[in-house]
Amino acid sequence: MSYPFKINSLEQYYEDYKNATDNPEAFWANVADNFYWRKKWDKVLDWNFSEPKVEWFAGAKLNITENCIDRHLEKFSDKPAIIWEPNNPDERTRVVTYARLHKRVCQVAQMLKNNGVKKGDRVCIYMGMVPELTYAVLGCARIGAIHSVIFGGFSAQSIADRLDDANADFIITCDGSYRGDKIIPLKDVIDNALVGNKTIKKVIVYTRTRTSVSMIKGRDVWWEDEMDIAEDQVEKNGVVSFPAEEMDAEDPLFILYTSGSTGKPKGVVHTCAGYMIWTTYTFVNMLNYNQGDIHFCTADIGWITGHSYIVYGPLAAGGTSLMFEGIPTFPNAGRFWDIIDKHQVNILYTAPTALRSLMSFGDAPLLGKNLSSLKTLGTVGEPINEEAWHWYDDNIGKNKCPIIDTWWQTETGGTLIANLAGITPSKPSWATLPMPGVQPIIVDEKGDEVTKLDDQGMIKGNLCIKAPWPGILRTTWGDHERCRLNYFATYPNLYFTGDGAMKDAEGNFRITGRVDDVLNISGHRIGTAEVENAINMHTGVVESAVVGYPHDIKGQGIYAFVIYNGHHGDENQRRQDISLTVAKIIGAIAKPDKIQFVSGLPKTRSGKIMRRILRKIAEGETENLGDTTTLLDPDVVAEISKGRV
Ligand code: PRX
Repeated sequence: MSYPFKINSLEQYYEDYKNATDNPEAFWANVADNFYWRKKWDKVLDWNFSEPKVEWFAGAKLNITENCIDRHLEKFSDKPAIIWEPNNPDERTRVVTYARLHKRVCQVAQMLKNNGVKKGDRVCIYMGMVPELTYAVLGCARIGAIHSVIFGGFSAQSIADRLDDANADFIITCDGSYRGDKIIPLKDVIDNALVGNKTIKKVIVYTRTRTSVSMIKGRDVWWEDEMDIAEDQVEKNGVVSFPAEEMDAEDPLFILYTSGSTGKPKGVVHTCAGYMIWTTYTFVNMLNYNQGDIHFCTADIGWITGHSYIVYGPLAAGGTSLMFEGIPTFPNAGRFWDIIDKHQVNILYTAPTALRSLMSFGDAPLLGKNLSSLKTLGTVGEPINEEAWHWYDDNIGKNKCPIIDTWWQTETGGTLIANLAGITPSKPSWATLPMPGVQPIIVDEKGDEVTKLDDQGMIKGNLCIKAPWPGILRTTWGDHERCRLNYFATYPNLYFTGDGAMKDAEGNFRITGRVDDVLNISGHRIGTAEVENAINMHTGVVESAVVGYPHDIKGQGIYAFVIYNGHHGDENQRRQDISLTVAKIIGAIAKPDKIQFVSGLPKTRSGKIMRRILRKIAEGETENLGDTTTLLDPDVVAEISKGRV
């Protein structure tokens, strides 16, 4: 498959950027011509950011799975679509060709249909990183059901909240999943999430770990049994087929929950056509993907990175996507390098946290590993510090592979700002230039564009985007007003990213981090309000305030200031108990790294917590805490500062 929309030179980047800005309709229609449509669009783009309303390719009909699978069958039926590397290296690798993927996705679609799933139903997927997770995602898309994948680290309570918000009808899960030397009992977590649930009709359970599970008659069915039935229905005389549902360009494809500054995660909605085009276009261009390349994205499909750059982008491009079940440090810290060596991986796309963690093991895990197949290295999810960038460059890329720093968000569907491998220059810890179609601007607090360079030659402020690109979120599930308020109301007629940024005189962007109350822990987004709500549910806790602080490996750690008036145990015991409560309410990823017990919190006279002061204390700053005169009780600051943990 060739990619006529591939950018092959710096000149072409500037030309395409200009065309996509000046005439987006013509530009994206051209790109869209490279996909398979049941019917072409009536209008390429219709939008306003005030409602907001964004429609790309309105009137077009398609099914994304025909683009990700069927259209590749003629030429690539034997080509690996997915190479699956198990958690345990002694277990067999699985290679899923496009023909096999087609068959499995048809079977899943049939299985879902047999179990009563219809177009528009919400199907929650809570599985480990097994190929069946990809089949489940694509099986939903094939029949037009809306998938909502939930990361395997979220707790029963988090799942219950998401099922409720999405009014989900079905669940696909596993008995358990492997993570290093641990087994996560996924079905058991689902059972807990379902206590009191009234909407779920069926739970389909794939067997992975042979963990014993409870199966409720009439509700719970085994994947294997259902897939056997479906196999006979979709395969006749050696020919496999299951007709894909014809979808409107703007029909929802999936919901993915993500954290914001309120206590309640929001269901970001992406639609069929725009998302497909954006993920494919960015995948091919930023990573310099060429036919035959083996692409290894180390994310989990429970996050947007896995949706866009393990499943949809690579498969729509007819690529080969390597999917890894395990963790980078199991059975040892050389696992990524073993996988690259074994499968001759060409593209590695990973998170700075993983790099920092692997860096801390020194050179030994790299000894004897042949990494010469690598040609592009990527990072995503959080700012990359220069030390990690150079380690990646020297030790993994051997100074021969471009490193791309890709900035984007769950809401953006795919990358918005990144250097293009081998085409546009890289700059350590800078995301650099916007993709064609993306018009970022930096605004001040009032929303006015900052255009003047400061004395360091930079423009600094809040990062907004002026116009829609095909992959922008369309709404937040069940609450469009929330979408407007969160992203389009802070600055009229702009999409506000929630990130701060700086821009240099050449137009390169550097992301400086969130400017709202959202934390980025190991590249995972968690709202401070969510963590505070969870801590406040612990018996004895009166109030809490959570802030982020710099963490060597995770990028940011969670620091909680807690007012506690219970009597149980000593301080350490209480810390552990509170952490456990947070793990039960949200999931282990949200456990505070540090908990400091305090007698009061710095509040203004109107009762607002002054997080700025807490952030400074958490960062280790004892002087220069800023103006504390407006505080209700200024003495509390000295006490908190003294008791820092
Ligand atoms: O703060 C930015 C940070 O991650 C946030 C988005 O998180 P999420 O929706 O979970 O998506 C992560 C995967 C795309 C952003 O608002 N972020 C993401 N990529 C970068 C980044 N910060 C700095 N540099 C990046 N390359």
